[in-house]
Amino acid sequence: MNRDYIFDLLNQQIAKEQYAAQLYLSMSAWFLEQDLDGIANYFRVQSKEELMHSEKFFDYLNDIGGKIVLQEVKQPPHDFKDALEIFEKALEHEKLVTKSIFDIVKAANDAGDYSTAAFLQWFVNEQVEEEANASQLISKIKMVKDNPSALYLFDQELAKRVFVAE
Ligand SMILES: [Fe+2]
Ligand SMILES: [Fe+2]
Repeated sequence: MNRDYIFDLLNQQIAKEQYAAQLYLSMSAWFLEQDLDGIANYFRVQSKEELMHSEKFFDYLNDIGGKIVLQEVKQPPHDFKDALEIFEKALEHEKLVTKSIFDIVKAANDAGDYSTAAFLQWFVNEQVEEEANASQLISKIKMVKDNPSALYLFDQELAKRVFVAE
C-alpha cells in the first residue's frame, strides 16, 4: 500500500487544525476587546482543543511512519462585525473541517488504509459535536444579543468552560 497521498492529506490536516486554533484565538481576542471575557474564554478553550487535534494528527502520522512536513498557516481574520457573525463563521469553519475529515476517510478507505480510517472515526464523532455546539451558540446569541442582561448571563455561562486534555 502506497500511503504517500494519505501522508500528504494528514500533513494538510495538521495545518487545518492549526488554522482553526488561530481562528478561534483571533475570535477570543475580539471578545476580550468587547469585555465579554466569558465568550473569549470559550474560544480560548476551543483554540486549545484545535491545537490538541493538530497534535493527534501529528502523533498519528509519526506512528504510521509518515514524514511530518509542517505547512504554512494563513493569517486568520480579525475584523468581525458582531458576535453573531463570529458564531456563524465558527460553524462555517467546522463544516469545512468536517468535509476535510470525510475526504480523508474516503481516501483512506479507497486506499485500503483501514488503520487511518479507524483513527479518523474519533474525528468524525468529534465533528458531530463541534457542529452541534456551534449551531447551539448561534441560536443562543440570537436570543440574547439585543438584551444586555441576557448577554451578561450568557457570557457568565461561557466563562465556565475549561480545557480538558485528552
Ligand atoms: Fe478540530
Ligand atoms: Fe473544531
